[in-house]
Amino acid sequence: MRLAVALPVIGTTALALAVAWRKLQDAPLSVDYEQKLQVLLKRYKEQLLASPKRLAEVEAEFIAQMREGLASRTTVDGRRMMMLPTFVTRLPDGTETGECYALDLGGTNFRVMYVRLGPGRGEMAACDVEEVTLPREIYTGPGDKLFDFLASTLKSFIDRHQASASTSQPGDSSSSETAVTASASASSAPQRPLPVVGFCFSFAVEQSGLASGKLLGWTKGFSCPGVVGNDPVALLAAALFRAGRPCRVAALLNDTVGVLAAQRYLDSDTEVGVIIGTGTNACYVEQLTALTKWTAPPGAAAGGDGRTAVNMEWGAFFSPQLPRCMEDLQVDASSPHPGKYLFEKLLSGMFLGEAARRILFTVAKEIPGLLAASPAATAAAAAAAAAEDEAAVGEEAAAVAAGIPGRLATPGSLGSAALSAIVEDRTWGLRTTRKLLASELGVHAPSRRAAEVAKEVCTLVARRSAQLTAMALLAILRHNGWAKAVPPRPVTVAFDGGVYERFGAYRTMLSEEVSEQLGEAAAELRPYIRFVLSHDGSALGAAVLAAAAVTGEEAAAAAKAAANTA
Ligand code: BGC
Repeated sequence: MRLAVALPVIGTTALALAVAWRKLQDAPLSVDYEQKLQVLLKRYKEQLLASPKRLAEVEAEFIAQMREGLASRTTVDGRRMMMLPTFVTRLPDGTETGECYALDLGGTNFRVMYVRLGPGRGEMAACDVEEVTLPREIYTGPGDKLFDFLASTLKSFIDRHQASASTSQPGDSSSSETAVTASASASSAPQRPLPVVGFCFSFAVEQSGLASGKLLGWTKGFSCPGVVGNDPVALLAAALFRAGRPCRVAALLNDTVGVLAAQRYLDSDTEVGVIIGTGTNACYVEQLTALTKWTAPPGAAAGGDGRTAVNMEWGAFFSPQLPRCMEDLQVDASSPHPGKYLFEKLLSGMFLGEAARRILFTVAKEIPGLLAASPAATAAAAAAAAAEDEAAVGEEAAAVAAGIPGRLATPGSLGSAALSAIVEDRTWGLRTTRKLLASELGVHAPSRRAAEVAKEVCTLVARRSAQLTAMALLAILRHNGWAKAVPPRPVTVAFDGGVYERFGAYRTMLSEEVSEQLGEAAAELRPYIRFVLSHDGSALGAAVLAAAAVTGEEAAAAAKAAANTA
């Protein structure tokens, strides 16, 4: 055959084969399996999304637990909100000035930051951030190694920063920093100002002052021994000293407080700070009179406005009424801290993908062929299983031997980034989802139906998170009287965290849920709630609060000196 004739023939055959293959991929499930699938998906929908009545009951329990936590020191068992006083009795108002470093340990990535505040109200003259990934052996290894790692990163950042500042702006590195730690003053070297550091440490800490406290427990996969029960500031200060770069750690705060403070610096209507990232949590501004378990430090009521920021640790909320399915129990059981932080396990980025993966694994077992491995992979798995002692073959290995992809059976194989891409997939024939099913979960030639099911499951899991976040937010606003204020007053909620920042469909769901749950009041109240992304807010807030603490102390010292001379 001449080439000119052969090419169109080959082309047509390839096209016909492609169409036939696509038809095979998109062949509908049998009627029985389709019915079974519908029943299964309906059941998940009922289990994962709470009815308005059930949501109202959960919200009532949430508010009751908030009040309990404000009134008395709760048992620290990771199953109730701790409502921790933050010692931040004076939130920024934009007038803060000075320069400062921040260390922000929120998850397996941490940030170091430099900021120079001012000169105008709410302005920032300079800001420099660097992000570093923590190796697994560091966030699960001995505590002193973790703090040495943080200290050496901060030291390099400060050294580099000061070197470039002294070449570009001679003399500018001298700042408002005047305090010297005991350890530094003990040395014989002439006293030099120490860099001021705000430490954003995103775990549950019971604070004993603005710059001291003790870690109550790890979350988010951290498990470094030797830190729980100890003061993170003392550990950081000691590590910085060991690294040869003593600093003055002037403020210790949770990331939610950082986000609240950073946004409050710009907008005085900010009353709530929320993180929805690897973990989740919120803090809000509470009346000192409502925080009856706590005695504010002397001068707090006079210096502030009679209110303080409370770190709720809402991830630890639990109610048997929470909408959960069997796979959620499995996610919890196989997590680093089983039985604890159960609300976080329904909301945050660390768990969204895993819940969806486990549900899809169940679906794959119930509907054979829908999410299947390649015949070659199945044959290899079956041969491996046959070679094993029968009793040693677990449920998952047996499923893989029966045709389910090994990656679909592997914990952690579906991350929240893939989950969000699936939820947001608008490609023709759900091509993106099909590709992700193949690349992330090892599904062989995923059909359109398989992609639709994956999208439905991922959307349900994300929607539940948004529904519960909205419930918790409205619980705060109902508890603090905002929802009943006459006339309505504006409130800003500052958000940070990867799920909120990078998952646009999630933000839409959250907004829809807030309107839905406001019910009849939505038309009147919804326009008064403003959601703002406070990018890098936790680190920035740490810097602002540390700068404010130092400025406040300097002002107090100056006032005292003036009074003494008078
Ligand atoms: C921690 C909180 C933190 C949240 C968000 C949770 O696991 O317990 O302290 O604010 O994650 O980072």
